[in-house]
Amino acid sequence: MGFRIVGTGSYLPEKILTNFDLEKMVDTSDEWIRERTGIRERRIASPQEAASDLGVKASQKALQMAGISPEDLDLIVVATITPDMFFPSTACFIQQKLGAKNSAAFDISAACSGFIYGLVVVNGLIRSGKFKRVLLVAAETLSKITDWEDRSTCVLLGDGAGACVIVPHNEKTLLSYTLGADGNCGHLLFIPGGGSRLPATEDTVRNKKHFLKMKGNELFKIAVRVLAESALKVIREAGISPEDISHFIPHQANWRIMKACAQKIGLPLEKIYVTVDRYGNTSAATIPIALDEAVREGKVNRGDILLLDAFGGGLTWGACILKW
Ligand code: COA
Repeated sequence: MGFRIVGTGSYLPEKILTNFDLEKMVDTSDEWIRERTGIRERRIASPQEAASDLGVKASQKALQMAGISPEDLDLIVVATITPDMFFPSTACFIQQKLGAKNSAAFDISAACSGFIYGLVVVNGLIRSGKFKRVLLVAAETLSKITDWEDRSTCVLLGDGAGACVIVPHNEKTLLSYTLGADGNCGHLLFIPGGGSRLPATEDTVRNKKHFLKMKGNELFKIAVRVLAESALKVIREAGISPEDISHFIPHQANWRIMKACAQKIGLPLEKIYVTVDRYGNTSAATIPIALDEAVREGKVNRGDILLLDAFGGGLTWGACILKW
């Protein structure tokens, strides 16, 4: 038994922050940001909008496409590194706001790889036979953990959410997948404060310990290598060749990473679905947002072979071949 994605949805906050806006905030330029990352603008949540608010709007669109009511859901899984609170889980907030009263709910913490981790977990739970109507959401408000005085990170990040409704299906559609992690490199991308290691104090706030820290150029090299290795592994395990892939939907952190990765896999650049120019890096949400846009634009059709590929903090990574 396999699963099928029968509804997709996404939501991006209204406020657009352009590279030109950032030029007024930190020592940077539109030219530098575009050339080094491919990003032109990103979306920023309002002070009132938390991750669950974005996630609910994306979920409602996915449920509408699927023709499924919230009460029919039996499981909600949310990937996020910017939860509304430590607990309750963001999945519980989304469950409550949707009115999905018959659903179990929990969060997954796998940073930018959260959506692929989620898909693999949902696949297993659906195969158990216990769950029939699952909502997988990735919702991020990275602007709330961004140091707006740090030009090396603030130009990269954005807010947004994507969601999928997933149901059991006779045919196998997850043709192959891989997940990986390397805790030894956790220090390359993390938030030092606010957890049990360094609880919030006046000192942690003054010293900006609650903001995301990143060693971008070290991550860059690892990202290209790991994304390409994972992609080649799932292509091999699915018994297909790169030519069989209709669309490559990678995590959208930097156009240069995406391009280098496609070249290593042997995929033409036209097969990459790109949102990083408009939304920047929205962590776990980049892949389901891109998937939803590609579906709604009619670019992804039943029978298409998709390569999804992600990499992020942890470090974590994951890739899969999905028959749409
Ligand atoms: N505007 C202008 N200059 C900037 C800048 C900005 N926003 N950010 C950094 N710089 C400067 C640096 O200070 C450095 O200056 P120096 O040479 O005088 O020291 C120079 O640009 C080059 O910095 P470097 O970090 O080596 O640039 P880069 O080409 O590696 O690009 C990133 C930086 C962050 C865009 C790139 O490394 C990247 O995208 N890394 C991966 C990030 C990522 O994917 N993270 C999430 C994983 S999910």
